Amino acid sequence: MRKMRRKWWIAGLLQALAVWNIIEAQIRYTIPEELNEGTVVGNIAKDLDLKLSEVFERNLRLASESGKQYFGVDSAKGELVVSERIDRETLCSQSATCLLPLEAIVENPLQLYRVEIEIQDINDNSPVFQNNEKVLNIAESTAPGARFRLEAAQDPDVGSNSLRTYTLSKNEHFALNLKSAKDGSQVPELVLEKPLDREKQSTISLMLTALDGGKPARSGTAEITVRVLDNNDNAPVFEKAQYDAQLAENTSPGAVVVTVKAQDLDDGLNKEISYSFGPHTPDVLHRLFSVDSVTGEVKVKNEIDFETDQSFDVDIVARDQGTPPMEGLCSVHLEILDMNDNAPEIVLKSLPSPVREDAPVGTVVALISAKDLDTGENGKVSLTLSPGAPFSLKPSISNHYTLITDQKLDRESHSVYNVVIVAADSGSPQLTSKQEIVVSVLDVNDNPPIFTQPFYSVYVKENSAAGSILCSVSASDPDQGENAKVSYSVLDSRVLDTPVSSYIYINSDNGSIYTMHSFDYEKMKVFQIQVQAKDHGSPSLSSNATVHVFILDQNDNAPAVIYPSAVMGSASHQRMPRSAKAGHLVTKVTAVDADSGHNAWISYRLAEAADASLFSVNLHTGEVRTKRSVSEQDDSSQRLLIEIKDNGEPVQSTTVTVDVLIEDGFHEPVSDYRKKSAEVSKKSGKITLYLIISLASVSLLCLMTFFILLVKCARGSRGSSSCCIRRSESGYKNPNRNLQIQLNTDGPIKYVEVLGGDMMSQSQSFGSYLSPMSEFSDFTLVKPSSTTDFTDTLNVLDASLPDSTWKFESQQLEIRKTNHCGISIKNNFSGFTSESSFMVGQSIT
Ligand SMILES: *[C@@H]1O[C@H](CO)[C@@H](O)[C@H](O)[C@H]1NC(C)=O
Ligand SMILES: *[C@@H]1O[C@H](CO)[C@@H](O)[C@H](O)[C@H]1NC(C)=O
Repeated sequence: MRKMRRKWWIAGLLQALAVWNIIEAQIRYTIPEELNEGTVVGNIAKDLDLKLSEVFERNLRLASESGKQYFGVDSAKGELVVSERIDRETLCSQSATCLLPLEAIVENPLQLYRVEIEIQDINDNSPVFQNNEKVLNIAESTAPGARFRLEAAQDPDVGSNSLRTYTLSKNEHFALNLKSAKDGSQVPELVLEKPLDREKQSTISLMLTALDGGKPARSGTAEITVRVLDNNDNAPVFEKAQYDAQLAENTSPGAVVVTVKAQDLDDGLNKEISYSFGPHTPDVLHRLFSVDSVTGEVKVKNEIDFETDQSFDVDIVARDQGTPPMEGLCSVHLEILDMNDNAPEIVLKSLPSPVREDAPVGTVVALISAKDLDTGENGKVSLTLSPGAPFSLKPSISNHYTLITDQKLDRESHSVYNVVIVAADSGSPQLTSKQEIVVSVLDVNDNPPIFTQPFYSVYVKENSAAGSILCSVSASDPDQGENAKVSYSVLDSRVLDTPVSSYIYINSDNGSIYTMHSFDYEKMKVFQIQVQAKDHGSPSLSSNATVHVFILDQNDNAPAVIYPSAVMGSASHQRMPRSAKAGHLVTKVTAVDADSGHNAWISYRLAEAADASLFSVNLHTGEVRTKRSVSEQDDSSQRLLIEIKDNGEPVQSTTVTVDVLIEDGFHEPVSDYRKKSAEVSKKSGKITLYLIISLASVSLLCLMTFFILLVKCARGSRGSSSCCIRRSESGYKNPNRNLQIQLNTDGPIKYVEVLGGDMMSQSQSFGSYLSPMSEFSDFTLVKPSSTTDFTDTLNVLDASLPDSTWKFESQQLEIRKTNHCGISIKNNFSGFTSESSFMVGQSIT
């Protein structure tokens, strides 16, 4: 604008100088800018002293130094009017005075007038901010007093219409300060008066208003947005300062125990929180727990044992990501809940001591205590014993027990006890544990050695060599060790007035009994010895057994001829009449054998005869009789060799030679023979009488017995199934017993005793002896036997009975009582049963 104006000036000046007759007259109008078109500025014709007619005639016109025509001349009125709207700010910009030079030209004569139009400023412009929106970023930590320069506003108006002042909208933080620049203009600035807090207000909107000095004043505004930049000025804060949680022990790893949460009022990274354990967290907590840095979950990392730790206190730190970071802290209290995860434990306070079998009830065997690491019900322990053992538990002080005996002990029936103790707690599920205690029972010498049999029967052949083994007795002792060690001895007694120790010898270690010399059956048939077994205990115990030694007969004696007595080597002489008929008794050979039984059974045989057809010898009786009548042709002298043999093994025999003289005229028999035969017949008669009496008695008894048995059977048929008389083990003292048959059988049959009535009364006792030694009294009534020996004798009989049934048979007379009378002897003694049926026999009719 200014340049243009200057051009005008130069062009106008050149025109005036060269062409124009310039009239030095100066007309000045003053108008405000922005007048409407046609607004009259002034009456130029009048001011130029021109007549109205001249205006037209002389052609008054205006020339503008600039090309632009803002004014025109109303030729009719001679007035200067605004032909175009004038903006002072366009023409003169900021100049204080704005003069628009004009040239008024009239012709005829050509005259040129200078006209100045001063354009006065009106307040037509408002102050304007170039950026009417402004953003200011201010850190919240900024200290009060800080200044922030703002953009100044522009107002093209001048003078009083120009920019005069600024105002700031009301706020609590900022004040406005105007600073003068070098060119005199004012620059607004914000001054922080009060500290900012993003957490309270993160943006502040301000309005800056610029005012000019016009009347009325015009204004322009700029919006200022203050963004408060976050500063990490807030620490994270936990929702709770203290968290409490409960956790069962043995919770599997990964389980969330508690979740902590903190908040940070700051923004961005300053509010981004990561969680971790506090700085002084012990290692054990690091081992057992973990904290999730993002979610704040506290998790189980390893199994927790209540028995080690009952509770934990852990600090958890929340840290934001600001620079510098800020931290918040909370504490977590974890209570561990007990689970029944520990089985009760049985502790032996002392090793179980062996207990003597005679220990009184209540003897302490072991001290036991029980414990359980758990607490409460889970740790309450009760002990029980396996049943069956003779022990019980006695509680003493807390959780201590004594194992005591509650019954009598017997090592022999139970030497070792495995006592099982079961401990159970009261938890749920219940846990138990077991402990086995071995209690050994110590031996006490409370058992004597016991012989395998109370009676031993030994059979030894007579004449056997001394030093041979007789038998072995053995006793066992159920005790232990020395208490069970047995030594044997023979108790002192006398046999045939000789100490028994001279007969036999016993091996004290193993009970083998040896003979010390040979025995002669003919002198001694049986004897008994007492052996004792004694243990080595202290005090020692002993028991006795009886050994019956039966000497067995050997055929060591040859039959001895008693009749006819003959001087050794010579024959005996017998006479007989020639008239004798067949069957005539010539003589009777009688022999005896010192042995017994079969060894003593004698048989007679005619070994040699001059005429074998004439004589015969009765095998059993030894009677020599004629077989036929003696004839005239027969020699008067006959020699007979009679052999007498026993039945033993080997057979022993002897011979006797009998010379028989056959006499033609039979006279009296030889006197001695006659006398003898008379005696014999007398004796025979006696024997026959006795025999008859005996047989009658026996028969009577048999009948009586039979009768009694019949009655008993009839009565007892209800209760007892057997009608037999039994000999029971209880001995021979049964008062109901009314018949006893006694058979003495030490070897061969010696006598039979028949006892009637009560055992203990000595009435009605019959005995029969069969003695080969007594020639004529084969049957003898004996005095009642003494009952004191009787039991012994029967015992002997029992012992002497071998396993199999014994049968004695005589060759001639048999009285078989067994089946007919139903008498049997049942032997139930010493473990074997033998039934003895027996006969009464006689060798002489
Ligand atoms: C007992 O000991 C003797 C000598 O050592 C021996 O000859 C005998 O056979 C033994 N008896 C038994 C029954 O072992
Ligand atoms: C064994 O016999 C002896 C001698 O007769 C006697 O003193 C002792 O008491 C008997 N012992 C037993 C256990 O019967």
